[in-house]
Amino acid sequence: MEVIIQPTREAAALLTAKIIAAEVRKNPAAVLGLATGATVEPVYTNLIEMHHKEGLDFSLCKTFNLDEYVGLNGDHPASYRYFMNTHLFDHINIDKRNTHIPNGMASDLKAECLEYEEAIWNAGGIDIQLLGIGLDGHIGFNEPMSSLQSRTRVKQLNPITIRQNAGYFGGPDKMPRRAITMGVGTILDSQRCIMLATGASKAEILAEAIEGPFCAKVTASALQWHRHAVVIVDENCALHLKNREYYDWSFNHQPEWAPFRT
Ligand code: PGA
Repeated sequence: MEVIIQPTREAAALLTAKIIAAEVRKNPAAVLGLATGATVEPVYTNLIEMHHKEGLDFSLCKTFNLDEYVGLNGDHPASYRYFMNTHLFDHINIDKRNTHIPNGMASDLKAECLEYEEAIWNAGGIDIQLLGIGLDGHIGFNEPMSSLQSRTRVKQLNPITIRQNAGYFGGPDKMPRRAITMGVGTILDSQRCIMLATGASKAEILAEAIEGPFCAKVTASALQWHRHAVVIVDENCALHLKNREYYDWSFNHQPEWAPFRT
C-alpha cells in the first residue's frame, strides 16, 4: 500500500483524477470501478474537464459502481445512479449501456447481486477501483464486521452511516436501511485500488485503516492486503498518520510517480 499526502482537498482530488485518466489513456477500454459521495465529487469534476479540454476519451470504457440503496430507482435524486449521471456520465462520452450500478429496485435482490458479480467477471474484472472511506471505516457499504471475503450482497446500514448520509434524504428517518454493495472480496479482486480521503472528520478512522490492524471492524483496512493499493489524502486527513516521513519520501522518490509530481 502506498500513501500520498497532498496539501489540499483539491490537490488530492486532482491527483486521483490524473491517475484514473492515465489508466484510461493507457487502456482505452478500461473497466473502471467507481464510487459516490462528497469526497469523490471533485474527482469527477476534474475528469469532465480533462474530457473537454484534453479529449480524454471514455467511449470504450466500462464502469461498475460500488453500491446502491435498496428501494431507490435511478430517478431518485439521492440514488447513486442519479449521482453518477449528474456528476459524471451526462458530461463525458461514455456509452451509458456500459455503466453499471446495482439495481436497488430488483424484485430478486439476491439474483441481482449474483448477476452483478457475473457482469464484473464477464467484463474481465475491474482495472482500477476508486474508493472513499466512511466514518465507520467502510469501503462500499461494507459496514464493520463485514467478511473480508464478502461478495456483492445486501447489507444493513450502520446507524453511523445513516447519520452520515441522512442529509441527502432530508433526515435519517427518510433514509433507506439497506444497500446492495460489492463485497470486500469483490473490491480486492480489482487490479488496482485508489482510496481518496479528505477532511479532518476522517483523520482518525483513516489512520486506523492504514496503520491499524487488518480487521473486519474497519473494512478499509483490507486494502493493506491488496497488491496495488494507493491511498490519497489531504493534510487535514493525514493528521494522525505516524509514518508520514516515509510516505512523503516514497512519493517524492519513486520513478513511477514522477509524472504525477508537479
Ligand atoms: P463521503 O462518503 O465521501 O460522502 O464522505 C464516503 C463513504 O462513505 O464511503
